[in-house]
Amino acid sequence: MSILKAVRGTRDLLPPETDLWNRIEATARAVFERYNFREIRTPIFEDTQLFSRSVGEETDIVSKEMYTWEDRPRAQSEKAQSLTLRPENTAGVVRAYIEHRLGETGQIQKLYYIGPQFRRERPQKGRYRQFFQIGAEVLGPPSAGSESPLRDAEVLEMLAAFLNRLGIAGWKLKLNSVGSSEDRLRYVATLREALAPVAAGMCEDCRRRAASNPLRVLDCKVPEDQPIIAGLPRIWDSLDGASRAHFAAVCAALDACGITYEQDHRLVRGLDYYTRTTFEFVEDASAGQALGAQNALLGGGRYDGLSEAIGGPSAPGIGFAIGEDRLVLALQAFSQEKPQLADVYVAPLGDERNPAALALARHLRDGGLSVELGDGLFRMKKSLETADKQARSVVILGEDELASGILTVKHFATGKQFKIPRERLVEELAVLLTPSN
Ligand code: HAM
Repeated sequence: MSILKAVRGTRDLLPPETDLWNRIEATARAVFERYNFREIRTPIFEDTQLFSRSVGEETDIVSKEMYTWEDRPRAQSEKAQSLTLRPENTAGVVRAYIEHRLGETGQIQKLYYIGPQFRRERPQKGRYRQFFQIGAEVLGPPSAGSESPLRDAEVLEMLAAFLNRLGIAGWKLKLNSVGSSEDRLRYVATLREALAPVAAGMCEDCRRRAASNPLRVLDCKVPEDQPIIAGLPRIWDSLDGASRAHFAAVCAALDACGITYEQDHRLVRGLDYYTRTTFEFVEDASAGQALGAQNALLGGGRYDGLSEAIGGPSAPGIGFAIGEDRLVLALQAFSQEKPQLADVYVAPLGDERNPAALALARHLRDGGLSVELGDGLFRMKKSLETADKQARSVVILGEDELASGILTVKHFATGKQFKIPRERLVEELAVLLTPSN
């Protein structure tokens, strides 16, 4: 019989790597909560229309990467429905914001999420079909100040704080403005016009995009196309005064706290809902290349018209999503996560000592220690070898120890042995296992 494997583009995350995932998530929660964000959990699948109306019908995500199926009704009262595994979570958060009338509080909502997303992309290093995002959204009615450039700058400052706290050695912030939706329409028309005479000399993707979605031409990485792209009009020249002033205010706030950035006029991003600020944090090639071609650690931007596009009230917002898989790759390149050891291994000698060993393990765990429980089936030598691999110390539980209540403890780092009465075991082990000992 053939062996069943995880589906292409999906992965199992195993210990000790999961320790790193947990550390990243704990750091994200700690940092985000300091900025007064709260967690939101939305469903993993949604009505397909949610994504076509927000991310955009013409985007790669909606046109070819979504996992969509026709959900069969189970009862006559139910209708068949087209459902989609979420390819991203901004649309879901905005849907929840509208559905639960969060705007009626009159306050800005600051929501973060951690979870899997699904896109049928060509798998490669740093690109998977099930991947994890840590994201956050700041949105609310305009009267609450949700359009303010200060919100953009604060989100960017928080991201810099998060990456620095995690110890990501080198990142670069790329920043741009795609203007209001009118600015964008104007730019797309200008771009289409400029592409008409030159597109025939470009790669196949560009030729197709020049007609269907000209903004995507700016993402092209084909070397021969680069001189042509460099000569295309820039989005900045299509922005109106208000969009330029908004961008300048974001930059001024970043300058005030010493956050460096690079304006990248080609950063228009692959989702249709963006207005004004767009950004990506990429791995800085001068600091190492853990990620290779997929070097965007995270991306985001402002989406002032998204709520209306899916039937909600005006709720300008800004947010981001961090590719957690990529963050893990970047961190693994610099440090190896050590396998985690238990504090104590309880080694019963002879299987008649097993019940007493379970009771002792319970006592130690109640005292706050992490315990690996051995088995009296194993001989002393095997128990000690296993203990040395799995824990930082071992407590031996034989006939004498049980009778006297004085236990033999070995501390592996120093090789020292101790005799400790059962009632003092928790506190003596705690002292023995403090990092300086
Ligand atoms: P996005 O740029 O499509 O934006 O994705 C954000 C990040 O998710 C990327 O920078 C990358 O690190 C990671 N990512 C995307 N696709 C994959 C993949 N196939 N495998 C591994 N990692 C991947 C969004 O999703 C927007 N919802 C971000 C946002 C939030 N904008 C405003 N609010």
